[in-house]
Amino acid sequence: MQRIAIASTLLILALTVTAAGQETRIGNLAGDAHRGKQLYRRYCIGCHGARGDGLGDNAPWMDPKPRDFTAATFKCRSTPTGTLPTDKDLYDTLSRGVHASGMPSWDALTRRERVDLVAYVKGFSARFHEEKAGAPLAIPAGTPDTAESVERGHALFEKMNCWSCHGKQGRGNGPSVIGLTDSKGFAITPYDFTGANRFKCGETDQDMYRVLVTGLDGTPMPSFADALDANQLWDVVHYVQTFRGKKAPAPVQRTSHPQTGDSAGSVGNQ
Ligand code: HEC
Ligand code: HEC
Repeated sequence: MQRIAIASTLLILALTVTAAGQETRIGNLAGDAHRGKQLYRRYCIGCHGARGDGLGDNAPWMDPKPRDFTAATFKCRSTPTGTLPTDKDLYDTLSRGVHASGMPSWDALTRRERVDLVAYVKGFSARFHEEKAGAPLAIPAGTPDTAESVERGHALFEKMNCWSCHGKQGRGNGPSVIGLTDSKGFAITPYDFTGANRFKCGETDQDMYRVLVTGLDGTPMPSFADALDANQLWDVVHYVQTFRGKKAPAPVQRTSHPQTGDSAGSVGNQ
């Protein structure tokens, strides 16, 4: 009898420890994985699968593939390459969605629901029991966004071989993209920056700076934290932002035919 009592005490202890190792907290909200499970089964299972392995019913038709949560490899983090994301990182990803992929924004769910989902998603990988999240990397203020900074960023884009994957015009068609794969062996190409009005891990300059220092884990996009200093990283951010046309010089005026919309250029090419 006593032995059973001790055993069950140990069991309760073990469960408490497990729960503590996995605690999820955003501000004053603590995540509840049980509630998260119900939401997951309703909203996420079709893509990410019942076991969180990314093999949901829709997965065969998706590119990029839904994330396999069992490996705990995440693209959008504030933490160094190879480390676990913070709860806030996962929460922000859920809220934002992942642009240029099938991952929708879950902003319509309540904050509590999103925190509960984060708690449940973490449960798919033992790493969240065993490791702590990495320490978020600082995003220092840097050199201002001037024409000179863009020019320096351009030179670094060449020197660091960003173009070999992203292409000279940021269209994602550099010479190295052939045969690029992600950590699951699926073909991956950088997406076309010129068509993107948002980036995967957020749209602000700070979000892009963060990607350059963290890298996108599970993809060929490396971290440049050791290769470039803060000012250089900001120069690169300012340059890459010009691909989106946001800060590009005014486009060359094209004379369009008022009725047909045919441009003078295409007429001349015939
Ligand atoms: C329509 C399919 C679809 C649904 C539904 C969906 N996802 Fe995703 N999700 C994806 C795809 C595809 C990716 C991979 C995006 C990429 O790698 O660029 C992804 C990636 C993720 C990531 C990883 C992001 C990163 O930084 O690597 C998380 C976390 C995530 N989804 C959580 C969820 C949760 C929680 C739900 C339900 C509330 C959900 N997803 C519903 C398709 C989906
Ligand atoms: C070995 C190939 C490779 C090199 C070199 C490389 N990238 Fe990438 N990069 C990628 C791939 C692939 C992706 C897209 C990953 C994805 O879709 O999940 C990416 C994504 C990005 C993104 C998108 C991040 C977001 O939040 O959406 C930015 C910005 C970026 N790269 C900038 C750079 C810059 C600047 C350099 C050079 C300093 C560089 N990359 C070098 C392959 C590369």
